Amino acid sequence: MNNLSTRDKKIIWHPFSQEKTVGLPLSIHSGKGAYLYDYEGKSYLDLISSWWVNLHGHAHPVIAEAIYKQALKLEHVIFSKITHEPAVLLAEKLQAILPSGLSRFFYSDNGSTAVESALKMAYQYWHNLGKARTKFVCFEGGYHGDTLGAMSVGKNSGYHDIFKPLLFDVITLPYPDTWIGDISIEEREQAAYQHIQEILTKNHQDIAALILEPLVQGASGMRICRPAFLNKIIKLVKSFGILIIFDEVMTGFGRTGTTFALDQLNSESVPDILCVAKGLTGGFLPLALTIASEKIYEAFLDDKLSKDFLHGHSYTANPLGCAAGIASLELLLSAETQQAIKNISQAHENGLKLIQNLSSVIKMRHLGTISAFTLPDNQIKLLITNLLEQGFFIRPLGSTVYILPPYCLTVDEFKAVYDALFKLIN
Ligand SMILES: Cc1ncc(COP(=O)(O)O)c(C=O)c1O
Repeated sequence: MNNLSTRDKKIIWHPFSQEKTVGLPLSIHSGKGAYLYDYEGKSYLDLISSWWVNLHGHAHPVIAEAIYKQALKLEHVIFSKITHEPAVLLAEKLQAILPSGLSRFFYSDNGSTAVESALKMAYQYWHNLGKARTKFVCFEGGYHGDTLGAMSVGKNSGYHDIFKPLLFDVITLPYPDTWIGDISIEEREQAAYQHIQEILTKNHQDIAALILEPLVQGASGMRICRPAFLNKIIKLVKSFGILIIFDEVMTGFGRTGTTFALDQLNSESVPDILCVAKGLTGGFLPLALTIASEKIYEAFLDDKLSKDFLHGHSYTANPLGCAAGIASLELLLSAETQQAIKNISQAHENGLKLIQNLSSVIKMRHLGTISAFTLPDNQIKLLITNLLEQGFFIRPLGSTVYILPPYCLTVDEFKAVYDALFKLIN
């Protein structure tokens, strides 16, 4: 009998867990494809891609091999005044599929550091131009990570309340989220637009940038907003000269059905700065990018060192991470994965039809490979426990149950998940 979980309980402090009441953790021995395996050999279908990072399944041999080969060549090197092939190649490959305005690639380690870099870049951009635009705007419900800057712009996500006195001031905008069958969305979008217009008219001269999760707010409960609304807001924000930061840490790399959520917006809605992480390495290694436009980059070019971007992390552009990123991106862009993403979207549509008439299922939403719905709080815990017993691993966000799977999940596996959801909720 394996005693890993009892050893863990004596020594490990886990994130996002009330350690007093959480009980013993599940000990995972290995992963293959969409499955995780415990020490008894029981399998669990990973329906949340292990915190939204995994794209192609666990222990994917192509990515594992790319990391192994790179590790034999160069495991790491300082990235200031030094470069290496994997960092440049990954940036080149991403540049080829991103809007042409996004042309300067700044590496860091995770979603929070990508956001932190973006906020500092936006702030210093205005400073370097000699302008005092120091405030950030964000959407109610937006979540951008757990470091101090990221928490400040996510302070109304509900995750950081105790830290509020430590965080800098931000201006929060209303977020008209929507769902299948939502009949009041036009009205709420109009009210939100009007409110945002008033706020920006009054404060625009102080505002450095707007940061947002395009199309889906992840951590606050897979809250979807319509592309046409975002296009309108971005146009308005740009008309005031305010910079736009897209946080695609969750939505990037196929989650919303397109490679990036920005692909579903119009070509004028390209952000000044784009943050990606999570799926960047297919879920193998921590790596992130903050990708800036030439306009941003040029504001840092000067004979004075003080205009330089004085920000960096020891593992910036880690070659193993970059090698994983290249392999993962090639897999993502393959015809097979692109078809799988389409199949997943269809499978969600079919599955949601199955559960749509259950009286406790409300606010069903679906975009690309993500589906979600809201359940009464008192049903959630029992549902999740029962699902786990049946080998389906789901982790709810408050009263939101969502499925955000690796792209190797098959149509039959989807059917099994939605059948289980139907039976248990019913
Ligand atoms: C949209 C978004 N931004 C930033 C982050 C922070 O990423 P990380 O957990 O890698 O720091 C997350 C994490 O869930 C996220 O969903």
